[in-house]
Amino acid sequence: MTRFEADDTVEIMTSAIGVLNKFERFRRALAGDPVDRPPVWLMRQAGRYLPQYHLVRNRYDFLTLCRTPDAAAEVSLQPLAVLDVDAVIVFNDILVPLEAMGVPVTFGEHGPVLAQAVRDTATAERLRPAFFDGGEPVAQTLRLLRSMLGVETALLGFAGAPFTLAAYAVEGVLSRNLDVIKSLRYQQPALLHCVLERIAETVADYLRIQIEAGVDMVQLFDTWAGALSLADYEEYALPYQRAVIARVRPLGIPVALYVNGSAAVLEAMAASGADVLSVDWRLPLDTVRCRVGPDVVLQGNLDPAALYGSAETVTALVKGMVAAVRGDTRYIANLGHGILPGTPVESVKAFVRAVKGEAP
Ligand code: CP3
Repeated sequence: MTRFEADDTVEIMTSAIGVLNKFERFRRALAGDPVDRPPVWLMRQAGRYLPQYHLVRNRYDFLTLCRTPDAAAEVSLQPLAVLDVDAVIVFNDILVPLEAMGVPVTFGEHGPVLAQAVRDTATAERLRPAFFDGGEPVAQTLRLLRSMLGVETALLGFAGAPFTLAAYAVEGVLSRNLDVIKSLRYQQPALLHCVLERIAETVADYLRIQIEAGVDMVQLFDTWAGALSLADYEEYALPYQRAVIARVRPLGIPVALYVNGSAAVLEAMAASGADVLSVDWRLPLDTVRCRVGPDVVLQGNLDPAALYGSAETVTALVKGMVAAVRGDTRYIANLGHGILPGTPVESVKAFVRAVKGEAP
């Protein structure tokens, strides 16, 4: 791993290789090759904090927007125009493939609602592995994006990881304590394993069609796996992350893995086989690097709530974040979780500018 003093990083790297295009910067960070500066994108970069998003969203309910390729592509591209990020992530939701498995999803005022939650052997029967043919809206949106972006901007796909999708399938709504899935884990562990296995098969196939549609990286969101003990993470999250990653990596595209609240499970995350670990804000990146070793790419990790601070605050925090990787080129700048609704656009712009070494 190449290391420079933090303040010299941008200058030394730029003079050695010139300014890179967005895709090349992304590809090099993934390969651990020198970059002019870290690539940057943000989780939930397309969404409610953007006035432009509301203009499109007013014409469609959320799931219809996900299923309408022209409109989904338009919304996916908004952060590129507004923020000039290095990567575009397809507009969709992790819960969409659950519908194909037989569990209908709606979105209410307080987030997703799965009215036919899986609770016992009878209801688990409804949850069937699904396979995709590439005609699905997500693949159509990605093909559209690939043709619009050309090859110079990185394009990202994603899916929910099995444990997090199982949490929604079992809980039915956003759940603070995950008490339903945890009770299933203690009362009917074999049933939970069966649900996780079916979801893992589905997710691997869902990522396959996104890769065939031309993405440069896919991210697995295991948002809720950080709520597990290390032992339970190793039994109910890790094996299914590994199963998905083992099926996806031979397709030649790197896989990122995100877990919120990952401090207790970092070494286990690293054992998933993911190329990129996307981490939350609880630990500084140099501590994370010591824990996971030199080879994996790190992505993150500013607290999204920091974007409620002034542009100057955001700039100072980003400098600290980037200094913590000390010129380690295996790094993609991002938040530690998705942008919160109500975040000022100016702060999001300041985040991106600071990564680029520009003034707020
Ligand atoms: O990052 C991007 O810009 C791509 C789009 C994206 C969305 N959801 C759009 C969305 C991505 C990557 C997701 C992932 C997702 N969805 C996760 C994992 C990451 C995370 O944030 O933890 C989870 C857990 C979900 C499930 C989900 N979708 C919830 C809990 C909610 C409601 C709460 C909320 O933040 O709104 C959603 C809705 C959702 N997904 C919106 C968007 C833009 C808001 C919908 C609206 O317009 O009202």
